[in-house]
Amino acid sequence: MDRFRVSPVTVSRALARLAAEGLVVTRPGAGAFRAQPRASAAPVGDTSWQEVALSADGAADLVPRSVDASGVLVSLAAPPPGVIEFNGGYLHPSLQPERAMAAALSRAGRRPGAWGRPPVEGLPELREWFARSVGGPVTAAGVLVTSGGQSALTTALRALAPPGAPVLVESPTYPGMLAIARAAGLRPVPVPVDADGVRPALLADAFKATGARVFVCQPLFQNPTGAVLAPERRGEVLRIAREAGAFVVEDDFVRLLVHEDAGPLPRPLAADDPDGVVVHVCSLTKATSPSFRVSALVAHGPVLERLRAIQVVDTFFVPRPLQEATLELVGSPAWPRHLRAISTALRTRRDTMTAALRLHLPEIALPHIPSGGYHLWLRLPDGTGTSGAPGPGGESALTAAALRAGVAVTPGRPYFSAEPPAGHLRLSFAAVAGTEEIAEGVRRLRGACDEVRGQRG
Ligand SMILES: Cc1ncc(COP(=O)(O)O)c(C=O)c1O
Repeated sequence: MDRFRVSPVTVSRALARLAAEGLVVTRPGAGAFRAQPRASAAPVGDTSWQEVALSADGAADLVPRSVDASGVLVSLAAPPPGVIEFNGGYLHPSLQPERAMAAALSRAGRRPGAWGRPPVEGLPELREWFARSVGGPVTAAGVLVTSGGQSALTTALRALAPPGAPVLVESPTYPGMLAIARAAGLRPVPVPVDADGVRPALLADAFKATGARVFVCQPLFQNPTGAVLAPERRGEVLRIAREAGAFVVEDDFVRLLVHEDAGPLPRPLAADDPDGVVVHVCSLTKATSPSFRVSALVAHGPVLERLRAIQVVDTFFVPRPLQEATLELVGSPAWPRHLRAISTALRTRRDTMTAALRLHLPEIALPHIPSGGYHLWLRLPDGTGTSGAPGPGGESALTAAALRAGVAVTPGRPYFSAEPPAGHLRLSFAAVAGTEEIAEGVRRLRGACDEVRGQRG
């Protein structure tokens, strides 16, 4: 401390780091000592045998052994320094309830029994809280606490469809869900979405044509279109699924990210479903932090036991301290304050991005301005290819040019499970630092469009 004029905290962090690197050993009561040097460098080894072990032709496998994670990694990877993150899937740290989460976690860690085993279905009070937030006939007995939406969707799809089976998905839809389906050996079959959500007549046709027993749906602020399932379609979707003897997996992923100017929200489909057609998924990550991996699967009837068994075999249960922290967080006065604050901030960010796009990129269509969620879905001018291969004007050429210009955007192609009707981009306004970054990011995107058009011209 004397020599480097640093605080005791810095010294203890430095020692912890050196201990983790194996350079010092700390002996309580005695001090920190230089560690014995390692005898010799670890042998390099030869891992080439693994190619043989891993490369057996998997074409005949019902469940593929190699998994394509690219659709998921897009929203998890940090952009290079200086790049504006229009491709993030979570709130910027300045919008996360960091202090409330820290306080909740520290209080949770001191709760009696916090480090013991929780019931495998989740803490009763937390199941109760999730049941109340879904509403309708849902009770705590129908709730399983799960580890984030991604894991809940994985459990649901594995429970409801055997490898090789078709699963109806909205088109476009969340690439992470398509990745789950493919990793489980399922065949995603697209059903188009318009401004009012999935199109019921096409849904009915798709059930008839495929015999599918599952349809995955995001009725509220759909990713990527932002569409909300229209009131007259809600009952129709449930009726069509029921007639097909199929489940509807309802991914209610951004209910808590409603914008300040939205009207009253429709209830989850699960709240209007006494017959157990809906398997509902909701997660807290989008309104808190990607690391706050607490979510719920809600179901009714024999399917619940199937879901429970898969969840227990795969993960046992969600760590109890995190479940206790959730109860602390959602029960604190900071929680409603936080939800109001993000509702205001997201509306401002959405308006800033919309205005900037209309001013600087008038040739790009914004088919729908959502009143919830964290992104806009842009349709590129007709004739813009999606693959980049047919010409330099393609979606992927634009995405690459945007990155060179210092803004990371998400191309539309991975959101379609079959050939897309047009080129698209998805721009997120939640992961950036603030409205100035939004304005600057749109200017950079303008530059990228000009570069691509210049190449084409
Ligand atoms: C539509 C949708 N569902 C589910 C998820 C999974 O989120 P999480 O696992 O963080 O709850 C995401 C993440 O981007 C998403 O966009």
